[in-house]
Amino acid sequence: MEKKTQLYEGKAKKVFATEDPALVIISYKDDATAFNGLKKGTIAGKGVINNKMSNMLMQMLEKHGVATHFVEELNDRDTVVKKVSIVPLEVIIRNISAGSFAKRYGVEEGIVFAEPTIEFSYKNDDLGDPLINSYHALALSLATKEEIETIKNMAFTINSVLKEYFAKLNVTLVDFKLEFGRLADGTIVLADEISPDTCRFWDSTTGEKLDKDRFRRDLGGVEDAYQEMMRRLTAE
Ligand code: TMP
Repeated sequence: MEKKTQLYEGKAKKVFATEDPALVIISYKDDATAFNGLKKGTIAGKGVINNKMSNMLMQMLEKHGVATHFVEELNDRDTVVKKVSIVPLEVIIRNISAGSFAKRYGVEEGIVFAEPTIEFSYKNDDLGDPLINSYHALALSLATKEEIETIKNMAFTINSVLKEYFAKLNVTLVDFKLEFGRLADGTIVLADEISPDTCRFWDSTTGEKLDKDRFRRDLGGVEDAYQEMMRRLTAE
């Protein structure tokens, strides 16, 4: 399978058509942005790590009954996935306070919640991905009631599976962002990526940040953090 015309270029990935109208190829870049594109940079080797990590995690989730867009890894940076129409909601699950949650509610980072939380952002760069609730999403026809219910259930299932998986790697899954897509028949599947770009990972012993916060917050050691996560995922 090979790349045909480029359909889309996002901040971290490109999407190409293939000879099969139901499949596209995602190509992962090393480009990194933060704060809605205000901060720009590159993280050497990130595209390779995010491609492989996301594929490993999606295949693991499939084994746990979670439908994903994953089809086949082609090479270091390219993966064949099912073509979806993206539901324009960023679905954020949190297990521990951090980032915008800590800022919005004026609490410190690191509060372990009794139950995970879910929130949605309206995926719209011009508006800066504003926080939105499910009633607003319905009012704007971003998804149906049934789709929102499905997405919520899938997101919490994904959280349980990932939390347990990362715990075994001595990594605490603090929070993460998911995106879902619709197949041609309307089935909702997990899309986009699961990587240090889209998750907060803290070393369970030291609390060291092993994710994109090192880039967002200029903490240094960005490449090392991505590599360390990949090392733990592939170590047997
Ligand atoms: P937040 O605390 O900044 O709202 O981020 C919550 C989680 O979502 C965190 O794991 C990083 C991830 N995230 C993205 O994947 N893309 C984004 O554009 C933002 C703002 C956060």
